[in-house]
Amino acid sequence: MTDSKSLSRRKFLLSTGGAAIGSGLLSQRLSAGMHLRGDDTLRVGIVGCGGRGTGAVKQALLADKNVKLVAMGDAFGDRIDRSLSSLNNPENGVVEKIDVPEERRFDGVDCYKQVIASDIDVIILATPPHFRPEHLRAAVDAGLHVFAEKPVAVDAPGVRSVMETSRKAKEKNLSLVSGLCYRYHDGRLALMDQVHSGAIGDIVSMQVNYLTGELWYHERQPEWSDMEWQMRNWLYFTWLSGDHIAEQHIHSLDVAAWAMGDQYPVRATSVGGRQVRTDPKYGNVYDHFNTTYEWENGVKGFSACRQQNGCYREVNDYLIGTKGRCDVFKHRIDGENNWRFKGRARNMYQNEHDALFAAIRKNEPINNGEYMCKSTMMAIMGRMSAYTGQSITWDQAWNSTEDFTPVDYSWRDVAVAPVAIPGVTKFI
Ligand SMILES: NC(=O)c1ccc[n+]([C@@H]2O[C@H](COP(=O)([O-])OP(=O)(O)OC[C@H]3O[C@@H](n4cnc5c(N)ncnc54)[C@H](O)[C@@H]3O)[C@@H](O)[C@H]2O)c1
Repeated sequence: MTDSKSLSRRKFLLSTGGAAIGSGLLSQRLSAGMHLRGDDTLRVGIVGCGGRGTGAVKQALLADKNVKLVAMGDAFGDRIDRSLSSLNNPENGVVEKIDVPEERRFDGVDCYKQVIASDIDVIILATPPHFRPEHLRAAVDAGLHVFAEKPVAVDAPGVRSVMETSRKAKEKNLSLVSGLCYRYHDGRLALMDQVHSGAIGDIVSMQVNYLTGELWYHERQPEWSDMEWQMRNWLYFTWLSGDHIAEQHIHSLDVAAWAMGDQYPVRATSVGGRQVRTDPKYGNVYDHFNTTYEWENGVKGFSACRQQNGCYREVNDYLIGTKGRCDVFKHRIDGENNWRFKGRARNMYQNEHDALFAAIRKNEPINNGEYMCKSTMMAIMGRMSAYTGQSITWDQAWNSTEDFTPVDYSWRDVAVAPVAIPGVTKFI
């Protein structure tokens, strides 16, 4: 995609205005624009064609009438094939919106560059989080609207880079929608409105849990280099996933920050380790973290996440206020102001894309950059505390220089970094 070509496409899309295709006025405006460019289709590309990326493509294709998937990239070609064959299942209702010939299927670690260069308007970024800062920067530099899965980085330099990219997206009038999907859940949104308007009084404490079981593992194949093995099993390597406190528990941490009016904790003190998932095949991540987050006003949030089989499971969050308490997943408040969400919550993943595509059509950009970066940082701060055995402040975490980027991503031997040992591993 040449810059001028993509810019003129985007200018057209902006000038055509709203998503309400079918409404008389907008149809007329679209027709005028179509005359100029001959096309009002939003072209979508994806980088990272795994489970979530494939789901996000489907939701993007269902979000707008004139949208097409035109380019796919993944480090591994077999993942593209799998994703395409799943998307091509007629039950998804998107088959006619898929136009990805062989020449627009890109494999290898540099595939994001080719996807970006495929004359697209919108990009879905759903690789392991390690790659997000670079992919986001390149996408926004190229003038693309972005759907970015969470978390958005694995270390503080990555978060700082994404903050900068988010600012750029704002300047360029580009939409940047985050995969922190609870924020697009109808029930959670209504609940947070209640909380923010005082239904539970002042929050005094919070309990946020992501207690679950083990996840998938891809058995190592003899032909795989260390790099391929790690990338295919990215969950288990801190440099790729940020560890599960960032990769998974971020949803719960984001709830706590959201409830606090997007104020972030000033300190984290965490206990964590690797009790069960000790086999070297599980890389260097922990299997549990227990973190106390402290806000400037004295509020404490108690966070627990675990990925161990055979244990009590609970994924839910609780807010305790001076006038009542709130069960976040039940969308319910008990206390002085009893409240229940009585609506029917739509699919939150679909809502994300409906919002993104409507924002593009209306030229009313959404920018979720700030909370997606800060919630990522909140998770990283907890991990830093658990790994080092120290209490870590927000400022320390934010200014950390620990950078997990390897020298290169070639298919080579690469040692697994040692498992962090509290009291021994140093804060960097
Ligand atoms: N919002 C949610 O509820 C939710 C749910 C699941 C996953 N996620 C997030 O989505 C992202 C992807 O997770 P997933 O479950 O789909 O994992 P996955 O392993 O199924 O998919 C990741 C894909 O990225 C590919 N990949 C790896 N490195 C790459 C690179 N450098 N360039 C291009 N492709 C690369 C992998 O080959 C794989 O196909 C993660 O950040 C995860 O945290 C979010």
